[in-house]
Formats: sequence, structure tokens, C-alpha cells
Amino acid sequence: MIKRSLRALGSIRLPLAAAAALVTALAVASGPLVQSPPPPPATTPPAATPAPDNVPSAAHQMVEYRQAVMVILHGNFGPLAGMALGKIPFDPAAAQLRADRVAMLAAMVPDGFVEITKDEKSRARSQIWTNRTDFDKHATDLVTRAESLAKQLKADPTQSDNFLHAVQAIGGACQDCHDDFRSR
Ligand code: HEC
Repeated sequence: MIKRSLRALGSIRLPLAAAAALVTALAVASGPLVQSPPPPPATTPPAATPAPDNVPSAAHQMVEYRQAVMVILHGNFGPLAGMALGKIPFDPAAAQLRADRVAMLAAMVPDGFVEITKDEKSRARSQIWTNRTDFDKHATDLVTRAESLAKQLKADPTQSDNFLHAVQAIGGACQDCHDDFRSR
């Protein structure tokens, strides 16, 4: 029906806008009668749902968050270490990506180490709460070293000695913080 109307319009040559308006009008006219929306269902008040007991506490969620950051840091540092040690082939684009990611993730390290977590079971040592400045400095060191590798790779995307040293420096930043602030 609409198609036929359109074909008919073709021969009339209305200005475009007018033709469009007419098509819309035809479509509406030829469509089914507009139905009024069904009435909303009778409202029954929702049954009070008790909070399930298994919702993790805010403190527990922060522990999971920081451990997740560490796992992803590890997952991105691993290939860098592998390339530096010659265990996997050097790939400048992959190295660049990993260095950028380590820098970005390192900046998130302090987020999850908040004092509400101090009674949660984890490997975080209590020194974090008494020596926060040092802890944060280790995190900043990691950011700086990863950024410096990222910058260096832009200037020289090769498996140079500088690459090896920069990766070692990053590993050292992980190690230093673990030595001081992570329990065995
Ligand atoms: C500023 C300190 C700090 C830095 C820097 C740091 N870590 Fe950690 N890391 C910790 C602490 C503290 C824990 C223990 C956290 C916990 O148990 O909640 C940890 C835990 C981990 C874990 C175990 C995660 C888990 O599932 O429990 C891995 C893996 C890890 N770190 C890898 C790394 C790597 C790789 C780097 C460097 C690229 C790094 N970390 C840098 C402090 C640090």
C-alpha cells in the first residue's frame, strides 16, 4: 500500500520535504490504529528483601581490588621480563604496550591499601599503616620507572642494554616494596 503510494508520488514530483511529509502521513494513515498503552499492572509493594549475608564488605572488596591490580601488574610485567631475559622474542610494540600498562597500573597501587582493610586477611604488612610515606614512595618509584621505560622505548625501540636495565629497575621497584611491605 505504501509502496504503491510512493510510486504514485514519483510522477507528481513534490518538493522533497513535502514528499517526505506526505509519506509519513500515508504511513500513519495506512498503519493499524494506534493502540493506547496497556494500563500499568496493579502495584504490589515489593517484598522486603533482606540483604544477603554473602555481600562482601567494603574492606574485603578493597583487598580484592588491590590484589587484582597486582595480578594485572604481574601479567604485564611478565612479558617485559621475558623479553629482557631473552626468553621470548623482543617485540617493540608489545614492549611499549606493557610499559605503558605497568605505568598506568602502578598509579593504582595505593588505591586499595586503605586503612579500613587492616584487619582483613591478606599479605599486606601492618607497616603500610604506620609508614605510609615509604609505601607510597615505592609505588611512585614504580610509576616513574615504568614511565621512563615507555619513554625510552619511544626513542629507541630495540632490545638494548638500556632496555634490560630499565626492565630490571622496574622489577627492583616491585621487589623493594614486597621486601618491606608484603609478608611471606
Ligand atoms: C608499593 C608497594 C608495591 C609495589 C610497588 C608492588 N607491589 Fe605487589 N604487592 C604489594 C603488597 C603489599 C602485596 C600483598 C597484597 C595483599 O595481600 O593484599 C602485593 C601482592 C602482589 C602479588 C600477589 C597478588 C595476590 O593475588 O595476592 C603479586 C603477583 C604482585 N604483588 C606483583 C607485583 C609486581 C609484578 C609488581 C611490580 C611490577 C608489584 N607487585 C609492585 C606491594 C607492592
